[in-house]
Amino acid sequence: MKTINRRAFIGVAATASAGMALRPESILANGGKQSIKDAKPAILGGSKTFTGSFPSWPIYDHTEAKGLLDVLYSSQWGRLNGPVTSRFEEAHSKLYGVKHSLGVTSGTAALYAMLGGLGIGPGDEVIIPVYTFIATYNVVALHYALPVIVDMDPESFQVDPKKIEAAITKNTKAIMPVHIGGTPCDLDAILAIGKKYNIPVIEDACQAHLAEWKGKKVGNWGIGGAFSFQSSKNLNCGEGGTIITNDSDFYNACFAFHHQGQTSATAAIVATGAGIRGSNLRITEFQSNILLSQMTRLKEQAKTRNENALYLSSMLKEIPGLIPAKLYEGTTNGAYHLYMFRYDKEGFSGMSRAQFIKAMNAEGFHPSTGYGKMDKDPYVLGLVDNHFYKKIYGEKEMKRWKDRIDCPVNARVTEENALWFLQTDMLGTKIQMEQIAEAARKIQKYSAEIKNK
Ligand SMILES: Cc1ncc(COP(=O)(O)O)c(C=O)c1O
Repeated sequence: MKTINRRAFIGVAATASAGMALRPESILANGGKQSIKDAKPAILGGSKTFTGSFPSWPIYDHTEAKGLLDVLYSSQWGRLNGPVTSRFEEAHSKLYGVKHSLGVTSGTAALYAMLGGLGIGPGDEVIIPVYTFIATYNVVALHYALPVIVDMDPESFQVDPKKIEAAITKNTKAIMPVHIGGTPCDLDAILAIGKKYNIPVIEDACQAHLAEWKGKKVGNWGIGGAFSFQSSKNLNCGEGGTIITNDSDFYNACFAFHHQGQTSATAAIVATGAGIRGSNLRITEFQSNILLSQMTRLKEQAKTRNENALYLSSMLKEIPGLIPAKLYEGTTNGAYHLYMFRYDKEGFSGMSRAQFIKAMNAEGFHPSTGYGKMDKDPYVLGLVDNHFYKKIYGEKEMKRWKDRIDCPVNARVTEENALWFLQTDMLGTKIQMEQIAEAARKIQKYSAEIKNK
């Protein structure tokens, strides 16, 4: 396999952006009347940098409409009757270069079924990162296993591999890293830990469509990977998900878990004796057909997001106080479901992150503060008093669990530093990326004045 190093990858992206011609949307909101070099930020009475809008989402055309009607008129609306889900799974596994792709009802269902496929249950521990969507936690709790929440690397927002190793016990049955934001976590380090302790790694790649590590797609490094097709995701059918794997035994176990414990799609009439716990997590033919259409645009959209994100990073990193999320050495492609960066008020005359957001809003941009402190969330901590958990693990162990999952780095980063732009912003133009950077530059220059406003 040809490996592209990160420097070469970034070089390619920079050349691509330098060669882009100016597009009509490059005309600045102020009509070019005021030199942006001297411009005051909008929050201090200057012109707003951006009055346009980023692409709306989802993007679709008549192919989705035709596909939906084809399924409708076929009268074969479920995978047990129709051919479309199998067609989607075939196309998706080809795209990922894997043996199996198993369509399911959501990303949550994909993670839930992977844990089910591994036979995880009460008394087992599963390691997950703190900086993620709550689904990553929920699927572990749904199996009555203990979610062992691990702190982040503040530079990347990804799980800190050193802390994974420290969290392993004799009960650890899976490590479930997340490629948060759609950029890869440190897979080499995490897979090495899995290998050292003989613990399977399952990847939550729900946000990471087409992201790559060392030239191979993420989701395809551990025993299995989960993807989400929920509305906001880079590949979207409203709700849906898939599991990818090269391990046919694991695939069969996940298949059974998603299909009432049955081992084959042709077992439409429930047979007894499969001996595997199961649910109904089957995707419909309508969803699969939308995915087939959406997949025709996926590569092109991924390329745009990736180029824009790298271009934006090359500009933001030059602004004191703005630090784009670190990409690990093995990263050869980022999905940029989220464009994550840190705000350091020291670079902005001590101006708070909230003031920076307000000033960016006035310029026409809308960074968000992102996820919070999962390890301190009352919903999550409620597990300590959950009567099933007390019965399974004991009161003392559940009290100890609360200390085990303490994540101080995440607390600092989420309270003070973390910021995101959304994937749809990364589908904008190069000029729009320049405008984001220009707005941030203006705000930085006038930060002392904004702070005292
Ligand atoms: C990291 C992560 N894991 C899991 C999920 C769950 O996916 P779904 O919403 O399709 O159930 C999401 C969705 O937002 C996610 O971002």
